[in-house]
Formats: sequence, structure tokens, C-alpha cells
Amino acid sequence: METILVREALRRPPGSPAVRVQGWVRTKRDSKAGFSFIEINDGSCLAGLQIVAEGGLENYASEVLGLGTGCSISAEGPIVASQGRGQAVELRAERIQVLGLADAEAYPLQKKRHSFEFLRRIAHLRARTNTFGAVCRVRNLLSRTVHDFFQERDFYYVHTPLITPMDCEGAGELFRVTTLDLEGLAARGHGGLDFAEDFFGRPTYLTVSGQLEAEALACALGRVYTFGPTFRAENSNTARHLSEFWMVEPEAAFYDLDQDMDLAEGFLKRLIGALLSQAQEDMAFFDQRIQPGIVDTLKQILESDFRRIPYDEAIRLLEASSRSFEYPTAWGHDLQTEHERYLTEEVFQGPVIVYNYPSRIKPFYMYVNDGGETVRAMDVLVPRTGELIGGSQREHRFEVLEERMEEKGVDPEAYGWYLDLRRFGSVPHAGFGLGFERLVQFVTGMTNIRDVIPFPRTPKSAEF
Ligand code: 4AD
Ligand code: MG
Repeated sequence: METILVREALRRPPGSPAVRVQGWVRTKRDSKAGFSFIEINDGSCLAGLQIVAEGGLENYASEVLGLGTGCSISAEGPIVASQGRGQAVELRAERIQVLGLADAEAYPLQKKRHSFEFLRRIAHLRARTNTFGAVCRVRNLLSRTVHDFFQERDFYYVHTPLITPMDCEGAGELFRVTTLDLEGLAARGHGGLDFAEDFFGRPTYLTVSGQLEAEALACALGRVYTFGPTFRAENSNTARHLSEFWMVEPEAAFYDLDQDMDLAEGFLKRLIGALLSQAQEDMAFFDQRIQPGIVDTLKQILESDFRRIPYDEAIRLLEASSRSFEYPTAWGHDLQTEHERYLTEEVFQGPVIVYNYPSRIKPFYMYVNDGGETVRAMDVLVPRTGELIGGSQREHRFEVLEERMEEKGVDPEAYGWYLDLRRFGSVPHAGFGLGFERLVQFVTGMTNIRDVIPFPRTPKSAEF
């Protein structure tokens, strides 16, 4: 017999021959007339499949009647027209096999709505809820679309290292990677650490960005992108920060800042377009239950051009606002979430790209504009989430880069290979990083970033 997914079963016309479906029981109702309705979900789509279990099944009294939420079953039978409301078809069971029971008393997922805080504590089970099932499917579709988008534009998917000696962003938010016997050293009251003794013979960390290595590959292959995990030991317990998150980083030789912004805008629109056309059921769920109006917002974004404003203008707009912000809005200060949200939600009511930031607040690798006050950086800001993408044209002039490194206290010895790229056939190039969870957060309307990654890592929290 054919085994099919619930998604497929729901599409079969009434009167289709018997199939087998497998999944987890969401609800069971027993009718007084001696049969039961069992709704199962198998993760293949948001909707469940109704299974009608007649009293005549050989294990009806012994097993089926005892089924409850969370049990897993396999059911076989024809797909028939459903009498009830809410579904066109149902499966009329000729056989039900109980695969795994779930103790109804102990099973933490009940039919009622649970708070997201509660669900975080049972992350191993929360993918069985409507919301997290939908989040996981949306992540999958977006991941596939990331590859489609870049592959269609002749970007090669490259793999950059996760263990690195470099602090790309220069922010010092690094997780150390070591095999040194820290407990032993501490127990012996050892003060200094000798990294020559460490596994790699030098200090190493988990990467905060694959950009620097991606630049090396772009300066050979032309256009490349990475899509991998990224680690930041920032001690920010906010709804937009994770200690481990996924980043998409394209890098393109011969690109300038304008082309970089065009790429970022086209990329976001492509991702949103895929969701609206291929994830309609899940998006309708987010629209109804999580963030009313999100589908219309996304449609509007697809149809409009992103506003692009230099940092100077962003500052002018913030200073002209009657709003009192917590953080300073004077020229030279970085934009904070409250500023980003004000610009996107109130001034422009849509995505905004802010470019040409003060060189003082940006990392060493960004292209320095004439006069030296600003660099060719760009951030894509969106309503609610704030910064979704951060990128720049890279400094490809050897002398200028050397100077910038000195200014920022970056050791040129450690970045010798990176400087080499500017010594041997240097070319203008640009790229950006999109925080994948910020994207998922933005398109689903989920409030907390911890609820758009299956097993979140945040300060003081690394369970599962
Ligand atoms: O702006 P960021 O720090 O840029 C870079 O790392 C560049 N090297 C990227 C590049 O040009 N190749 O980070 C890029 C994006 C941010 O815009 C944000 O969306 C996301 O990564 N991000 C985080 N997402 C979740 N949790 C965190 N702690 C994040 N930090 C950054
Ligand atoms: Mg940034």
C-alpha cells in the first residue's frame, strides 16, 4: 500500500483508493454512536487529516479508544468525502496501528494555546505545534530560495571556516575554541595561558562572519555566497539577538555599493515572493494568529522600491522628530533599534536602506569615501525588526586599508593574507550579511527571535 503525507492525502479526490498515513494525534473525539474522529498531523502542512475510526476495527476498544493527543499512529484506508465541516476529505480507517503512546497526564502540549515562554522550555516538542511547524516550513522554503536566488545569478555557494583566528567585525564578541585543560590550569592556580600549547597553536574562535574568507573566494570566482552558522558572544538579551544564528553572505567582485544595494533589495523581494506564492497556508496562519496584516505588508514591499537615504539624512530626520529617543541621535552615533524602527515604521512605512555611515563606527574593511569621514556601508532596515542586512563595498586600496587597520588597532600581521588580496590583482568588491533569523522573524511577525530557530542559544541558555 502507498504511504503518503497528510499534505498529499488532503489533495486526493474523494473516492481515492486506500493509502497509509502516519503522524501524531492532535485531537480525538468519540461519538456516542460508537466511532471516533482522530485528527493527525505529520508536519507536512499546517492542516491535519481527519481519520474516521469505526467501532468495528479489531483494536477499537482495546487501543483506539485510549488514544490521545501526542500518540503516534499509522492509519490505512480509502480517502472519502467528509461529512463534517472544515475539511473536504477524510480517511476512513480500515486499520489503525498504534506506534507510540503518549501519557496524557504528562504530555505537555494540550489543545489550549500555550505561551511562547512555556514552549521554549519544551523546545524538543514545540515543533509539533501549529506555530513552530509553520516556522520550520517557512525556514525551509526561505533556505531553498536563498540558493535559488544566488544560483540563478551565477553566485557560487562556498564554505568558509567556522573556526577562525580572525575577529572580522572587530567587536570582540568571540567564543573561544580551545582544548586547553582549563579546569586543570585553574586547579593548579595557573595564571597565564600558553596558546602555543593549544590545539591550533594559537588563539582561535568561532566565527562571527564568513566575510573575510568569502572575499578571498570572490576575488577568484567572481561571485560567491555563504550560508552558515555564525556565533556572537554579545551579552544582549534582546528579542533580536541570538548567540548562534545563521547568516547569508554574498560577496561579489567588481560590485560597488549601488550594486550591493540592488542585490540586497532584489534578494529580499525574491524571498518574500517565494513565501507569498509557495507558503500560502502557513502565511495565512501568521496573518491570522501572529501578526495581523503581515501578508499585505509583504505584498506592499514586493511592489515598492526601497527608500535609500544617506546616514546624514537619517540623522536629520531623527533630529527633526518630536520623539524623545533613549539613545543620542547626533551625527557620529550608531543607529539603535528605536531609531531604525522610527525610520521604517513612522517616516517611510517600509524598508529603508541607510548608507554612507561615519567611518568611526564601522569596521576596518569598509571602503572609505573621499574626505575620510564616511565609509560605503549600507544597512537594510525593516519595520519591527530593524536591521536585517548589513553590508558594504570593501576597501580594496592597499594603503588605505593599512591605514584603517592602524586606526582601528587591527594587527596587520594577523591579517597578512587579507592584505595580500589588495597586493595581487585587487578589484573593487562588495557584499552583505543577512541575518536569517531576523528575516524569519520579520516575515512571520514572530515577536521573539528565540521562537524562529528550533533550538535557540542565548546568554545563560543552551539547553537541548
Ligand atoms: O551587520 P553584521 O554584523 O555584518 C557582518 O557581519 C558583515 N561581515 C556581513 C557582510 O558584509 N558579509 O551582521 C549581519 C546581519 C545583521 O544585519 C543582522 O541581521 C544579523 O546579521 N545579526 C544577528 N542576528 C541575530 N543575532 C545576532 N546576535 C546578530 N548579529 C547580527
Ligand atoms: Mg550591522
